[in-house]
Amino acid sequence: WWSNVEMGPPDVILGITEAYRKDTSPKKVNLGVGAYRDDEGKPYILPSVRKAEDIIHKKALNHEYAPIGGEAAYCDAVAKLAFGEDSPVFKNKSNCTVQTLSGTGALRLGLEFITKHYAKTKEIWMPAPTWGNHPQICNTLNLPHKKYRYFDPKTNGFDLQGALEDISKIPEGSIILLHACAHNPTGVDPKQNEWMQLSQVIKDRKLFPFFDMAYQGFATGDVDNDAFAIRHFVKDGHQVMLAQSFAKNMGLYGERAGALTFLCGDSDSAAKVMSQVKIMIRTMYSNPPLHGARLVLEILANPELKKQCFAHADIESFIWKELAVNPYFIPTFDSSSGTVPDFDPDLTLGSELSLFSIPVQVLEINSDMRNINVTKVLADVKHMADRIISMRKGLRSGIEGAGNPHQWQHITDQIGMFCFTGLKPDQVEKLTKDFHIYLTKDGRISVAGISSKNVDYVAEAIHKVTS
Ligand code: LMR
Repeated sequence: WWSNVEMGPPDVILGITEAYRKDTSPKKVNLGVGAYRDDEGKPYILPSVRKAEDIIHKKALNHEYAPIGGEAAYCDAVAKLAFGEDSPVFKNKSNCTVQTLSGTGALRLGLEFITKHYAKTKEIWMPAPTWGNHPQICNTLNLPHKKYRYFDPKTNGFDLQGALEDISKIPEGSIILLHACAHNPTGVDPKQNEWMQLSQVIKDRKLFPFFDMAYQGFATGDVDNDAFAIRHFVKDGHQVMLAQSFAKNMGLYGERAGALTFLCGDSDSAAKVMSQVKIMIRTMYSNPPLHGARLVLEILANPELKKQCFAHADIESFIWKELAVNPYFIPTFDSSSGTVPDFDPDLTLGSELSLFSIPVQVLEINSDMRNINVTKVLADVKHMADRIISMRKGLRSGIEGAGNPHQWQHITDQIGMFCFTGLKPDQVEKLTKDFHIYLTKDGRISVAGISSKNVDYVAEAIHKVTS
């Protein structure tokens, strides 16, 4: 029956992992797929996720079907993480949010919905370059897709003028795809004032913005900062569509927890959109999986776990403020290993403990032990973002330290999980063939695959193939 089927090409990203797995060299390094690894090169289970797993296990929940669009509490919590607790969309009930099979499922469902129900120009404009799966999904759906300028290879940065120029010529009513933060594959995001300009031109052209947010928290280490673009577009009156993923920021890759949100004009049209999207889900996979969504909801709905996962600078500065006005301020410590008494004589510099459930590190202890000075917040997402930043620094200084003749500043300028190295396809091939380092053909590396153990090796290899 299937003799007519032709061999398809391996996936541009996941195919790299397949090739890496086959390589038997002990030196091999996988910088292909965007999946976070700890400094041992191992998958990382977020401590907040571990705790959520324990809580859920104790609840001994059943395995009944989820509603077609997922649990309402999950949809509400994830939409609030993106749009902000106080967003007017929730007051007006003008959002339609459904659980999806992670970010890809959200994109597929959203784009398929467009093919069926979008009444204007069915043409998707994507940044050049974009995530390899974006055009593939459009191809599958026979949705025409085109590119607007985004990355400037001369500066290795965002091409604002090029983007504005191109977007201002996009036919009215078309759909524009935007990466909400931590652009994949370039690691280059517009600055806040640049987002404002983009929002204006998109409004002037009457384009429909579809945001893909797969990395909330990974760009700046702060989920609210990373939602700036989306929240600004909403403030500007755009009725955006949003694909969300919890693969990266909660490390739930295989659990396929994501969401798709349509902002509609009012609650009435949100209900109609929901009725149609449910029909689409029902005929595609009936209803979504439970476990990943339960973990996400447990973290978002439990203030302690949410802080553990996403605590950021605001909370840190709160602690600083408290300590500044009240030197006798006695925080209650509860370390993950138990309770640390207030003035624990064993408290040593560098110890990690939990302050208001925010993981912190002790930087300074004053002599009478009445006050401690805490350093960076060691929350789960911030911890991942910080390790990636330190690997960027290590990689750059390793290449520069070897006397490489090229500019490598972009390694540390770019943000998020990826670095768009500028390596040419033949250099990429050499890295893989001679050094067993795996990366996508476009020269993108997943910085999360670099560790203190392999950073020198990767730097040396990049130096050798580029000089
Ligand atoms: C990536 O770009 O590496 C990730 O988004 C994983 C994927 O599914 O491609």
